[in-house]
Amino acid sequence: MSDSPSPSLSRVLVTGGCGFIGSHTVVELLEAGYEVVCVDDLSNASPKVLDRIAQIVGDEAARRLRFFKVDISDEAALAEVFDETTPKAVIHFAGFKAVGESVAKPLAYYSNNLGGTLSLCRVMDAHDVRAIVFSSSSTVYGDPDEVPLTEASPKKPATNPYGWTKWMIEQILSDLWVADSRWDVVLLRYFNPIGAHPSGLIGEDPKGIPNNLVPYVAQTAVGRRDVVHVYGNDYPTPDGTGIRDYIHVVDLAKGHVAALAWMAGREGVEIFNLGTGKGSSVLEVISAFSEAAGKDIPFVVDPRRAGDIAQNWADASKAAEQLGWKAELDLADMCRDSWNFQSQNPNGYEA
Ligand code: UFG
Repeated sequence: MSDSPSPSLSRVLVTGGCGFIGSHTVVELLEAGYEVVCVDDLSNASPKVLDRIAQIVGDEAARRLRFFKVDISDEAALAEVFDETTPKAVIHFAGFKAVGESVAKPLAYYSNNLGGTLSLCRVMDAHDVRAIVFSSSSTVYGDPDEVPLTEASPKKPATNPYGWTKWMIEQILSDLWVADSRWDVVLLRYFNPIGAHPSGLIGEDPKGIPNNLVPYVAQTAVGRRDVVHVYGNDYPTPDGTGIRDYIHVVDLAKGHVAALAWMAGREGVEIFNLGTGKGSSVLEVISAFSEAAGKDIPFVVDPRRAGDIAQNWADASKAAEQLGWKAELDLADMCRDSWNFQSQNPNGYEA
């Protein structure tokens, strides 16, 4: 993995750069020497993230960060950002991401996630920028026939509109390359990102009741929720609870830096799984978090959640071989850093 930015892609525009994965990726890009243009409409992120990023990276690196409060669906505003900053590549995170909400509001999800991507691609094309890393998800594998999942495992129908938007954006970007082979597309399929920056300054701060396991566990540990609801203990897994490939968000962020270095000057579409290759059950996560927080975390077993699968984990060997990237942190590290952020910021970025 190269630590210094590829000269041809040294200025990168990051959509959704104030979000959970976006903010950690901005930190890693700045630390690797990139100039970063962060675009976020702040609809689901706090502007405080920008100060926190500056604190982490220090003054010199922070001077290489510019922020624009822009909705990527606003093509004219986005075009102005491109005119002013002339980025060489884009990492595209911006999008709505709550699975349950997407079932209730499909139009909002399709129009925001697909519409935003289409306008981004039009603006990129018009500015001769055709290198894009897309934040995809292991959700495109659906309920897998076998694990671990390789990039060659079949894509399966999504079970909710959020998943379909990931699925379709992969298709849209692939079709762009078919039409114009100058496009340089990398689809990164994330498994389950958790954890936080070890500084405790940035982390995951979901609005409302968390949908995902670890934020719920963290808020229970800090006293904001009474009890963790375990969604089913009758899956065909060793302890009956669902198994996922949890990956530390800092490892994940470094995967983007590795992908950018790798893709410089290429043309084509390439897919990489970003996971650890190891699955953990819901009960194992609760137990590891209890250990990290130094307290018992109460839980109850509820029925299965609609749309959940029993298990998935990655075969991450393609990223290791081609990008020279592999996850280095384990579940204990993830829980330690997640707890560090949650305990230092009990109400997230709110005072
Ligand atoms: N779970 C609970 N209780 C909770 C929340 C989750 O028991 O309160 C369980 C789930 O049933 C599952 C595991 O914890 O077994 C992980 O659930 P998450 O909601 O944290 O994560 P998912 O695997 O369901 O979803 C994640 C991302 C999605 C993405 C999907 C791809 O959040 O964005 O992976 O598989 F689409």
